[in-house]
Amino acid sequence: MIVDGIDMRPGNAEYPLNQWYVAAWSHELEPGRSIARDICDVPLAIYRSEAGTAHAVFNRCPHRGMMLTSATGRIEGDTIRCGYHGIRFAADGHCVEVPSGGAVPAKMCVRSFPVVEKWKWLWVWMGDAKRADPALIPDHEYLGLENSTLHSEPGIHLTVKANYLMPLENLVDATHITYLHHGLIDSGNVATTPYELKVDGTRVGSVRKFENEVLPPMLCAVMGLKGNRVNRTLTLTAFANNLCEIRQDFVEVDRLDEPPGRINLIVSITPTRRAETAHFALFATSFENKHPGRFDDLRKLLMEDVVVLEEIQALEERLGREQAPEVSIKADECNIRSRRVIAEMVRRERAAAQPAGATT
Ligand code: FES
Ligand SMILES: [Fe+2]
Repeated sequence: MIVDGIDMRPGNAEYPLNQWYVAAWSHELEPGRSIARDICDVPLAIYRSEAGTAHAVFNRCPHRGMMLTSATGRIEGDTIRCGYHGIRFAADGHCVEVPSGGAVPAKMCVRSFPVVEKWKWLWVWMGDAKRADPALIPDHEYLGLENSTLHSEPGIHLTVKANYLMPLENLVDATHITYLHHGLIDSGNVATTPYELKVDGTRVGSVRKFENEVLPPMLCAVMGLKGNRVNRTLTLTAFANNLCEIRQDFVEVDRLDEPPGRINLIVSITPTRRAETAHFALFATSFENKHPGRFDDLRKLLMEDVVVLEEIQALEERLGREQAPEVSIKADECNIRSRRVIAEMVRRERAAAQPAGATT
């Protein structure tokens, strides 16, 4: 699907750069250490200063091209030193030392990227730094990450070799649960249950209500149920385009006098390459989630999606656009709306980047 000249085909969709993307869990980055991450096809050196502040710079030394995260590189104070000839860069990317001496060339610098550490995530802004407003990060209170009534903890990190739009759409497409996740989280009636579409700015989602529903064992365990029958509301939301939330509000049918429960499955969508996406996924729950296998179960569930999405990506690449048409149905309207929202983000960012007087 091409929207206003922007390629929004799953498999090849363009992504906005003026966006915050999750690059890492906070605990992955110790003081004085760096990690290599790709976001939007850009190699990043993410590092934490010795005092504890997180930074992100382009992960290539302009001298002879060594990755700044290579094993012989070092973090010194707030700076990062290349491990090849020792040239050192400040967190804003300018060169602060050439050990072998001589004038520092004006081009001896690396691009730096705004970083915000919020809750237990590191968010990196990949576009115009002047537009990097932390208020654009999805609402952590709403998600239950900075909300004293919900419990949350870092979960899992996994990679899917598919363009970001495919996992994003998959996560807010409830109708595949009945088939792809049959036996794992399928309750038998999700695909046929009517839904209500919800659109609020860059949030696009759907709401489904179920009465007296029998849930499979894995779902009961993760939701901390005592029995297996619930009344629940399932709300799937795409925070276009960097995060999805699968929210369940429920009461057990045999315990209607107990307070309602909530479990939010939150999955970041981080485009790493054109055809690769990173997920940082976790639960926020109204109860203390003590189920020991909760993250194993989550990985198992998401891997059912990963296998399919990677197959679809590979087939699309093999066949090409002409031989791989896409035919949508009514239930895809949530995803089609998400595409339009994301395409508008890309369109606006391109328009803002045009020199004054240019036509788009
Ligand atoms: S390649 Fe980095 S200092 Fe030479
Ligand atoms: Fe799924």
